[in-house]
Amino acid sequence: MSLADTSLKDVGALTAEEAALELERLARLIAEYDEAYHTQDAPVVDDATYDALRRRNEAIETAFPQLVRADSPSARVGAAVADGFGKITHAVPMLSLDNAFSDGDVQDFIGKVRRFLKYDPLMGALAVTAEPKIDGLSLSLRYERGKLVYAATRGDGTTGENVTANALTISDIPQQLPAGVPDVVEVRGEVYMGHADFAALNARMEGNGGKVFANPRNAAAGSLRQLNSEITRTRPLKFFAYAWGEMSEVPASTQMGMVELFGQWGFEVNPLMKRCESAEELVKVYHGIEEDRSGLGYDIDGVVYKVDRLDLQARLGFVSRSPRWAIAHKFPAERAFTTLNAIEIQVGRTGALTPVAKLEPVTVGGVVVSNATLHNEDYVKGIGQDGETIRDGKDLRVGDTVVIQRAGDVIPQIVDVDLAKRSVDAVPFQYPENCPACGSHAVREVNPNSGKVDAIRRCTGGLICPAQAIEKLKHFVSRNAFDIEGLGEKQVEAFYEYDMDKGGIRSPADIFTLAERDKTSLAKLRSREGFGAVSARKLFDAIDSKRQIELNRLIFGLGIRHVGEGNAKLLARAYTSWNGFYDAMISATDTTSDAYRELNDIDGIGGTVANALLEFFAEAHNQEALAALTAQISPLDVVVADNSESPVAGKTLVFTGSLERMSRDEAKARAESLGAKVSGSVSKKTDLVIAGPKAGSKLTKAQSLGIEVISEDDWFELVGD
Ligand code: IVH
Repeated sequence: MSLADTSLKDVGALTAEEAALELERLARLIAEYDEAYHTQDAPVVDDATYDALRRRNEAIETAFPQLVRADSPSARVGAAVADGFGKITHAVPMLSLDNAFSDGDVQDFIGKVRRFLKYDPLMGALAVTAEPKIDGLSLSLRYERGKLVYAATRGDGTTGENVTANALTISDIPQQLPAGVPDVVEVRGEVYMGHADFAALNARMEGNGGKVFANPRNAAAGSLRQLNSEITRTRPLKFFAYAWGEMSEVPASTQMGMVELFGQWGFEVNPLMKRCESAEELVKVYHGIEEDRSGLGYDIDGVVYKVDRLDLQARLGFVSRSPRWAIAHKFPAERAFTTLNAIEIQVGRTGALTPVAKLEPVTVGGVVVSNATLHNEDYVKGIGQDGETIRDGKDLRVGDTVVIQRAGDVIPQIVDVDLAKRSVDAVPFQYPENCPACGSHAVREVNPNSGKVDAIRRCTGGLICPAQAIEKLKHFVSRNAFDIEGLGEKQVEAFYEYDMDKGGIRSPADIFTLAERDKTSLAKLRSREGFGAVSARKLFDAIDSKRQIELNRLIFGLGIRHVGEGNAKLLARAYTSWNGFYDAMISATDTTSDAYRELNDIDGIGGTVANALLEFFAEAHNQEALAALTAQISPLDVVVADNSESPVAGKTLVFTGSLERMSRDEAKARAESLGAKVSGSVSKKTDLVIAGPKAGSKLTKAQSLGIEVISEDDWFELVGD
C-alpha cells in the first residue's frame, strides 16, 4: 500500500478517533517496512513512500500529542533511518526555575512570596519544601489509565522530543501505575547518571576506542537521546520524580503530599526532601545538603525550594518561564587557574563591541572552558557598571594568569588575576576605537537622560557593517524567534557570503525568497557543498513552514534593542495583530499621539523600550525591510485564550488604591489569566477600574470619564475567589 492509492484525509481534518486508528495503522506499517529493510535487508517500498508515511505519522503526533503510542515509529529503533525524534507538545509547559545565589536571596524569595500573597507573619508559618536540584535532564512521563503512553524531553519547554522507547528501558520508570491513580497523570522529574555508573561507562567507551562523556549530565543526555533504544538500555540511567504536568485530578493538597504519592506509585523520590517553615530553616537544609554533596553518588547543583501548599502555588502562578512559587538555590561556582591567551572583539547585532577572553583550555566542574565573556571595555580594566571595582580593580592583560569561575550553565567569568605571575612586559589592553568588522568609528554614547557614558562601545557602521547584519540574521532564525531548522548560525554566515543571484541571504526577507530565486539561479542550492537535493528541499520546506509565524516571535526576531522575549510577548498581547502593531509604532513616532501614550501605558513597557521601538520604526530602511519581509510571511493574530466564561476577557482594567486581599502583582496576574489587559493609567479605553481605599487621581479621572468603578470585594464577586 502507498499513500497515493488510499483516500487519506488531511491531518487537520482527522477526528481524535480517526487519528488514533491512523497512528495504529502507521505504526504497524512502518514496523513492517523497518523489519523488511533492517532485518531482512529487502525493502518492500521505495524511500519516498516510506518517508511520506513517517512524516504523516509525525504530523498526526504533533496534532494529537495525547495519542502518541508507546510503540510510536518516531521513537523506535527503526528510527535510525529517520532524522530524529517525533515532537510532543507538552499539555502543560515545562518550566525552568529562577535562581538564588546567597542566603539573602532566599530571604528575599520568602519575602516576595509573602508580599504577593499578603501572607503576613500573623497568619502563621509558610511551609516551603527543600530538595536537591539534580544535575541531569528533565523528562515528562504521561500515563493514561495507569499506562505509560509517552515520555518527552523538556525541549524548549513547550515542545519536547518523544523518547518513549528509551524511557521504557529505564528501570526507575514504572510502565504501569497502581490501580486508583487519576486517569491522566503526568509525572515529571530528572533523568541522571550516578558517579560510579558514569565512571564505568566512560571506561567501557574508552576501552572500545570511543569518545568519553565530559560529565554525568552529558552522559545522561547523550544516552537518553539515542535513536537506538537498545543502546539506551545499556546505559545506567536513573530517574527521580519531583513535579507533574497535566493531572485529570490532583490527588494531594501539598507539594510534599504529591511527592509522597509518587513514591507510593513506584517512583524513586529524593530522600533528602524536607518541609521547612522559615527562610532560616531552608538555608540550614541547604548547607546540610551542601556538606553531604560529595557523598551522594550523583551530581546536584543546588537546592530547590517550593511553596508547599498547592492552592498557594496556584495563586502565585508564573512569571514568563518560571514559577513564582519555586526557586533554585545554586551552589557556589567552581574555580580554576589558567592563562589569558588573547582578548578578541566581537560585534553584536546592535553594533555592541564585546571583548571575549581566549583562554588556555582548562577543566572546571567537568567541562573544558576556553572562552570567557568580558562584557565591555571597563570590565577589562577592572571597573564595574556603577564605577565599583571588579577583581579588586585589577585590569586584564594578555598573558596573565587568571582565575576563572563557572556556575552551572552560566558563561564562565574571570574573577581574579594573579599579579605575582604577571610578566614585566605585559601591557594594558588597548581597546579598539574602530569596528573590527567594517572599520567604522566605534563610540560610547552619552545617555541623554542620565548624562552617563554608556558602558558599551558601539560600531556606528549600521547598515554597512556586515558583522551587525549577520548577527541580526542569526537572531532572526534563532530558537525563540523564527527557529528555522537547518538554518543555524553557521549556515547564516555561509549564506551571507554568497552573491544575491547565487542564493545569498542578506536580510530576513531574502530567507523567504530563497526557494523562488533558486529556481532560476545558475548556482542551485542542491549543488552547493554540504547540500544535496534532499537537504535543499528540506531547508525550503522548513522555511515555508515558518511563513505563518506567531506575532511575538516575529517581534522578538526583529532584534530591536531592549525588546527581548518578554517584551515581545507584552507587545503581541497588547496589539494582537502585525498590522495593528506596525501602524501603532509608526503613529507613535509622533510623541504627541495617542499611539505614543498607549505604548507607554502598556504595563511592563518602560520608556527605554518605547524609545528603542520608535527609533527602530522611524528608520526608513527598517520600514523597507519590514515591507519586504511581511510581503513573504503571514504573521498570526494573537488568539486571546478562550475565556468566554470570563467576565473580563478582552477588557482593559486599572487597579488603583490600596488592595487588601491581594497584592497588586497578584491582581494583575489573575486579571491577565482571565484574558484582561491591565493598564497603569485611566483613559477612554479603560473598561473597568477596581479601586481600593485611598484611591486618588485615577479614581477621579475614571469618574469624570464615566468609567465603571468597583471595589476589591466586587472584583472577587465578579471573578470568583
Ligand atoms: S522543579 C516548575 N525540582 O532544574 C518547576 N526541578 O532549572 C519545575 N531540576 O528544568 C522544576 N532538580 O530539569 C525541580 N528537584 C527539582 C529539580 C529540578 C533538577 C531541574 C529541572 C528543571 C531545571 C530548572
